[in-house]
Amino acid sequence: MATNAITAPKGIYDVDEAGAGRRRLRLERAFFDLAGQYGYPPLAFPFLEYTELFERGVGSATDIVSKEMYTFVDRGGRSLTLRPEGTAGCVRAFVEHHHEQSGLPWKAAYSGPMFRAENVQRGRYRQFFQYGIEAIGIDDPALDVEVIEFGYRFLTDLAGLGDVVIKLNTIGDTGERRAYVDELRRHIVQAVPDLGDDDRRRLDLNPLRLLDSKTPEVVGALDDGPRLQDSLADETRARFGEVCAGLDSAGIAYTLDERLVRGLDYYTATTFEYAAASLDVAQDAVGGGGHYDGLVAMVGGPDLPGIGLALGVERILLAAEAEAEGVRDEDRSGTDFVIVRAGETGDECARVLRGLRASGLRADMTYGDRSLKAQFKQADRLGAHTVVIVGERDVADGNVTVRDMISGDETTVGLTDVVGVLGSVRPR
Ligand code: HAM
Repeated sequence: MATNAITAPKGIYDVDEAGAGRRRLRLERAFFDLAGQYGYPPLAFPFLEYTELFERGVGSATDIVSKEMYTFVDRGGRSLTLRPEGTAGCVRAFVEHHHEQSGLPWKAAYSGPMFRAENVQRGRYRQFFQYGIEAIGIDDPALDVEVIEFGYRFLTDLAGLGDVVIKLNTIGDTGERRAYVDELRRHIVQAVPDLGDDDRRRLDLNPLRLLDSKTPEVVGALDDGPRLQDSLADETRARFGEVCAGLDSAGIAYTLDERLVRGLDYYTATTFEYAAASLDVAQDAVGGGGHYDGLVAMVGGPDLPGIGLALGVERILLAAEAEAEGVRDEDRSGTDFVIVRAGETGDECARVLRGLRASGLRADMTYGDRSLKAQFKQADRLGAHTVVIVGERDVADGNVTVRDMISGDETTVGLTDVVGVLGSVRPR
């Protein structure tokens, strides 16, 4: 590469291998098809939002907002941020367009890139893609079950992951957490007097995140510390019981994980994550989500609850690859028919090509002024099983030559019949 060649920014990748592009497209279609079955229509919302949305919604004390956002001031002096996640934008759209006046729950499905300035490693990127669904406006444990089931079905039935564990927890609301957080803080300060920088930061800004600490002393201290579950109201516990019972009767297995706290502040009650056993433990979450009670109001809307999830596309593909080692992409390559031009027959080539495409065939032409040999090489590269040679002499007689690239057999076909004749050639 020349020394002055420009590369993509660190942690931001092209999907430049044809197979990977096709797998993504297939997966995205499968996602929106399943979302449609569950009543979640597609929603597209902006990549850029006012920074305040994420500060208020995701929470200023979270790692995402305090350390990982791509934020800049625009020409009008407003602070904008590339969306680090989709829920806040979705909720903003719900509030802005008064969807509370439509039938509730309001449901939406989305797909697209998210941006977080993270430490880049396998499965952790700065631009990554998520598929997400959100259901806003109704508080019903059955909706929690629906969302959790949706993610599980997508990951196992459609993305083909055989090894997905659902981790499930309930974390109550801010009021219920307050007493616990104070107790937790006191306990940790006493049990681990010399906390490292990272844990100290968690203790000061967001003590609940200590439950997620990887420091052995903290993990040990948590074992005989207070339990969040003990601070939850009976109502919260009963609601969670209904979610668990719903999953049981749907035959969906889950693991209760009292230490599951998620990296976003808007969660109340149910939280969950999907872990793929085939990925490194540090990055094994292929998706996650939960219930959020205060977010709609925080964004300026009515006091309505919501529940949703997001799935990480790159991690799903990594997990699928790890599980199916050595299995090749079974898709055929892109093009079945290629038009080769011999002489001044550009118009006829274009007409045949247009006709083939209009009848639904995968067709292309070689383009440029190239020798026949170079054109056949290109047709091979494109994976064509049939080449249509449009030569001056043939065209003068109203014909073209069709070559079967596998047997090498050639036949003469009428120029006006060729589209119909080739339409009956089955792709291999
Ligand atoms: P999240 O857990 O931050 O939740 O992200 C969801 C998924 O996105 C993760 O489980 C992971 O698979 C993927 N992901 C996150 N960060 C990265 C990264 N840097 N590189 C690659 N993949 C990544 C949310 O974003 C919430 N909005 C989910 C939600 C929707 N909650 C309620 N509704």
